[in-house]
Amino acid sequence: MHEYSSQWVANYFDDYSEKEWERLVKTPTEEVKLFIHTHYLKEYIRSGDYVLEIGAGAGRFTQILVELGARVIVADISEKQLNLNKKYAEELGFIKGIEDWFQLDICDMKQLENHQFDSVVCYGGPLSYVFDRRDIALQEILRVLKCKGKALLSVMSLWGSIHEFLPSTLKVTSEDNANIIKTGDLCPENFHGANHHCHLFRAQELVKFLEINQTQILTISASNCLSAAWGERLLEIRQDTTKWQDLLLMELEASREQGCSDMGTHIIAIVEK
Ligand SMILES: C[S@@+](CC[C@H](N)C(=O)[O-])C[C@H]1O[C@@H](n2cnc3c(N)ncnc32)[C@H](O)[C@@H]1O
Repeated sequence: MHEYSSQWVANYFDDYSEKEWERLVKTPTEEVKLFIHTHYLKEYIRSGDYVLEIGAGAGRFTQILVELGARVIVADISEKQLNLNKKYAEELGFIKGIEDWFQLDICDMKQLENHQFDSVVCYGGPLSYVFDRRDIALQEILRVLKCKGKALLSVMSLWGSIHEFLPSTLKVTSEDNANIIKTGDLCPENFHGANHHCHLFRAQELVKFLEINQTQILTISASNCLSAAWGERLLEIRQDTTKWQDLLLMELEASREQGCSDMGTHIIAIVEK
């Protein structure tokens, strides 16, 4: 497996900058992903919960956590993303629910004590970015969780990414695609043109990883599946309130079906310690 580089991730997200705040609202497809991820925050986070959001980025989900009444510790490896998180928290008023910000690596959260959080939210792939150190990262999440605490995770999906980005995938050479598919690693050793390095999980692989690390799996869901490859054709549906609501509800249900777990760009897992 590709070797994790904390420096590469920090630089990538420092450069990614403001695009991270826009990412989940810029197209209807992304909005569906925002809806599905948010659904699980609403299902599992209670008002007053003490929550660590690791890999929080610019704060799209921090804002939602605060609106749900959580007391949030925000953490990220990228200084730039943390600064954006502070900026949006101040501008949009969700600073009231944030207790602190930490610049840290999910693989080494020694600044945080054992057993203190009701939930840890780790959305958008930190467990995909740490490659060969994912067991260490998950053990860190479990260490800071209270007994029976919940971890809400999402990782990048192999087949789901190919599903949504099929035309660009087919521009890559057969040999490089075969290597990416064999290892799940999108990295320079497998594809010289890779400017985004991450491990792409299969759903079964994610389940095994969570089981080996002795978590109890409560939910596995794709994000998303039905609309993943629809691109601009979704714009018309987005303008029709009834059709859009129908689609969101169907997406939620379909994405939870075992047969669909590999069909979105991300796989969400909710686990209990
Ligand atoms: C794709 S963004 C997701 C942001 C937000 N959680 C979301 O889902 O919209 C990934 C974030 O995780 C952070 N990240 C990646 N690897 C990390 C690591 N090893 N430790 C801490 N944060 C990490 C990045 O800096 C970035 O802000």
